[in-house]
Amino acid sequence: MNSVINDPGRTITVNNERFRVYITEEEIQKRVQELAAQINKDYASRTPIFIGVLNGSFIFFSDLIRKIDLDCEIDFFKLSSYGDAKISSGNVKLLKDLNCQVTDRDIIIVEDIIDSGLSMDFIKKLITKQNPRSFAVVTLLYKSDCVKIDFKVDYIGFQIPNHFVIGYGLDYAQKARNLRSIYILDK
Ligand code: IMP
Ligand code: MG
Repeated sequence: MNSVINDPGRTITVNNERFRVYITEEEIQKRVQELAAQINKDYASRTPIFIGVLNGSFIFFSDLIRKIDLDCEIDFFKLSSYGDAKISSGNVKLLKDLNCQVTDRDIIIVEDIIDSGLSMDFIKKLITKQNPRSFAVVTLLYKSDCVKIDFKVDYIGFQIPNHFVIGYGLDYAQKARNLRSIYILDK
């Protein structure tokens, strides 16, 4: 049986739990356009490296990068995930490192969501050790109740409450990444 069941009431069932539409495809696309426009303006005449954090950011990354009209490069990190749980293990591991040199470069990290902030804290330490020219973070979603980091996130798509979300790259036990909208756990 398929574990993702779409119904016309804009709710879905993934791994036997019910989620409802929270941010529509149209709202996401509009916001991604706004974020890209701001980055295009802020980095005019620079050559940044956009670094995506796999797996969750892959859809946001690909939508965002196609709206960037700067001369730019891309690379990816892969970090350990939540496993199949809805709560972070708090134990961040690097599964794939970068292939590029970040020293003296303008670095823009692209994340799907910042929850506890532990992953971003880990990435920031890793990058800043190598003396980039600048370091910035763009995240589509930001759970403001949870974040424990003490640095500012430069570009935020949407601030959301502390609930589990899926779709548009975000998974629940690897399912639901392919959904075009973002869905929230329906309690
Ligand atoms: P953090 O280290 O707690 O900030 O979590 C970062 C990573 O956990 C994100 O890049 C996501 O991959 C994953 N994550 C956090 N919250 C959610 C969620 O609500 N749904 C799905 N994945 C999440
Ligand atoms: Mg992620």
